Amino acid sequence: MNNILRAVFILLLLATVYGLNAQQSQRKRINIDKGWKFALGHAADPKKDFNYGIANIFSKSGKTEDTPMSKDFVDTTWRELNVPHDWAVELPFVEVDNFDVQSHGYKPVGGLFPETSVGWYRKELAFAKADSGAHYAVTFDGVYRDARVWLNGFYLGNNESGYMGVTYDITNYIQFDEPNYLVVRVDASQYEGWFYEGAGIYRHVWLEEYNNLHFNNDGGVFVHTDIEGETASISVETELVNETLQEAKGEVYVSVLNREGKELTRSDSQPFKIATNKKSSASFRLTLENPNLWDLDNPYLYRVKAVLVSEGKVVDDKIEKFGIRTIEIDNKRGVLLNGNPIKVKGTNNHQDHAGVGSAMPDYLQYYRIRLLKEMGSNAYRASHNPPTPELLEACDSLGMLVMDETRLLNSSPEHMDQFEKLIRRDRNHPSIFMWCIGNEEGWIQQTSVGKRLALTMLAKQQELDPTRTSTYAADLANVYNGVNTVIPVRGFNYREFGMVPYHKDHPNQPIIGTEMGSTVTTRGSYQVDSIKGYLPDQDLSHPWWASLAEDWWPIAADNDWLLGGFIWTGFDYRGEPTPFSWPNVNSHFGVMDVCGFPKNLYYYYQSWWSDKDVLHISPHWNWSGKEGEKIDVWVNSNADKVELFLNGKSLGTKKMKRNSHLQWEVVYQSGELKAVATKGKRTFETSQITTSSPAQIKMVFDRKVLLADGTDATVVNVVVVDKNGREVPDANNPIRFEISGDADIIGVGNGDPSSHEPDKSYRRSLFNGKGQMILQAGESAGNIVVKATSPGLKEHTITLRQVNETKSLIGKQ
Ligand code: GAL
Repeated sequence: MNNILRAVFILLLLATVYGLNAQQSQRKRINIDKGWKFALGHAADPKKDFNYGIANIFSKSGKTEDTPMSKDFVDTTWRELNVPHDWAVELPFVEVDNFDVQSHGYKPVGGLFPETSVGWYRKELAFAKADSGAHYAVTFDGVYRDARVWLNGFYLGNNESGYMGVTYDITNYIQFDEPNYLVVRVDASQYEGWFYEGAGIYRHVWLEEYNNLHFNNDGGVFVHTDIEGETASISVETELVNETLQEAKGEVYVSVLNREGKELTRSDSQPFKIATNKKSSASFRLTLENPNLWDLDNPYLYRVKAVLVSEGKVVDDKIEKFGIRTIEIDNKRGVLLNGNPIKVKGTNNHQDHAGVGSAMPDYLQYYRIRLLKEMGSNAYRASHNPPTPELLEACDSLGMLVMDETRLLNSSPEHMDQFEKLIRRDRNHPSIFMWCIGNEEGWIQQTSVGKRLALTMLAKQQELDPTRTSTYAADLANVYNGVNTVIPVRGFNYREFGMVPYHKDHPNQPIIGTEMGSTVTTRGSYQVDSIKGYLPDQDLSHPWWASLAEDWWPIAADNDWLLGGFIWTGFDYRGEPTPFSWPNVNSHFGVMDVCGFPKNLYYYYQSWWSDKDVLHISPHWNWSGKEGEKIDVWVNSNADKVELFLNGKSLGTKKMKRNSHLQWEVVYQSGELKAVATKGKRTFETSQITTSSPAQIKMVFDRKVLLADGTDATVVNVVVVDKNGREVPDANNPIRFEISGDADIIGVGNGDPSSHEPDKSYRRSLFNGKGQMILQAGESAGNIVVKATSPGLKEHTITLRQVNETKSLIGKQ
């Protein structure tokens, strides 16, 4: 063959491989959460780690030897499961005297536990031959942590971050007519945080397919909005990538759709010409009259559709949700959402829930955001790491502002890459109102090193998202040095007494409380029990560095210049059992426990954060044996005044001071403790009534209709009632669940911060009157019967329906 013929032949071959002649395909995104195989490896013994470390797999491309990466590897003894999966939550608690083990909730994961800190996942994938010609990629939304990934024995890479996801192009390794094996080795033996972090592929995994000429997958369609009078202007910045082997020509346009998918407006087309392996960009500005603005009460989501046309065919289209809204940070008026001042009434949270740990079904994100909204909270700080995309979708859909945070204040390539990916992934979410570039970086934050790190990160943030600004969470009072001299919004972790003087000294720098309050309480407990690790369920105790709700909130409420704050925390989470240690395994900081059951402090915040009429008496009124003793009674309300009655006798009326609560000392006598509130001309009342002993179980389903998609879920809350149907607040009965139908229990909990009962179980005892079960749907439509039993109690049976539907049933827009 002469040289010219050889060149033509090679070009033709390449063209076939790269699909230039093949049918052009449009973008697909397929969830591949189901049907993984899993086994624990070993961080210190290569033989128990399936030869990893012995087999010289890196010496040649695609070399697999005797490892799980090999096609022939027999994984029949591996467990079959679906991700999201957190193996840490499945392990028993261990009592080890080590600070990091304690702060991670006494689970045997980390450097001290090599035999339970490495996990292997394997998934078989099939690709139809007709698909060839397109580009393929896999995206892991989050793996904790240090994940190494192979496809068909080809090493794709290593993503160290336990929080920022990763995408790998797998096009070249696919075998179209044979099974393909995606293998992940997860090494959780190094901690990243100082709180429970879980272990494993604990977020979704996606298979993407797209044309060789395409929008950049990584934030390639950036939408931001402005509003002038009744007109919204919508800016769309697109990035185009040409991965074909020839120059690509075509045109690109964008359109705006309403949430039903109807096109409202479309841009003109812009021509492009891109050389092989080059990128290009195209920007658009559209306008929309009388838009539905995204706000906290009406979080309306539009869609932008970016379309790439080449040779008369649509070769790629990408749809991104967005909201039309403006955010400004004003050092006199606070956060302005669409020009209106919003006081930030926020909570800090980790991704962790009873029963499931960090592997939360999407539904639970919506459930938790709903609970926070019912309390009156309007903002969520994803402390201290990039959140899962579904958390952001829940906040977009339900109307909750988000402070989106990167893991570390560090400008190294590794951490800048995480920060850049975070911003590019998240910048279209209307809920995000601010970025956070770090949290409490010890000595660094007060130095010029801290200042330089911050400046580099701030420049990157401005480059990638000039529509927002950043804060940094400093555990410093009225101190102005290092990071604080350059950060656009000064963040205070605790030390709220420093805010007023700081503001006087630096009136032009807006201030936000990044971590505030931090009352430590155990739901339904009324005395300190340092053996079990319980604290009274009132606004009474806090760690030395923190304060009570009533210390910080009045300052935020009374000062317009203060943007508001985020309490530490909305929900209890595993680990950080401050101020106790073993047997205490959970934190006490939440205004709700790890199941989302409100503690009494919830009603303080609800009184001053929501528009609801709030009237709440604590404690309960079951104090048999304490007759004649004085009991401290707290009333949380936002009424003008409250009168308290015991068994019909008035104990006096008290005026409610704003941002405070009321207290009475009441000599205990069983019966009815009633509060009557007056607000303007209206009155409303509530009471605590002494109950008799538990008689019957009562389950309360959050939802009774689930999608039969194998992922939908519902919370089932469990209480016991006495013979009069009154909830028994101090009941601790063991409950057993039975399910018939295609659904499964994926976890149980009760909010007891010292419980060592397993999360993965069909049983759970109540703790101070409450327990929780999380039920996940199967894939067949039909009825699911759930029965709860307990010795000596009348059982309770509930039937729920599982349906085939295409529409989300959880509030996702
Ligand atoms: C803060 C820290 C939080 C949490 C909290 C406990 O200093 O930022 O992550 O550890 O203390 O009080």
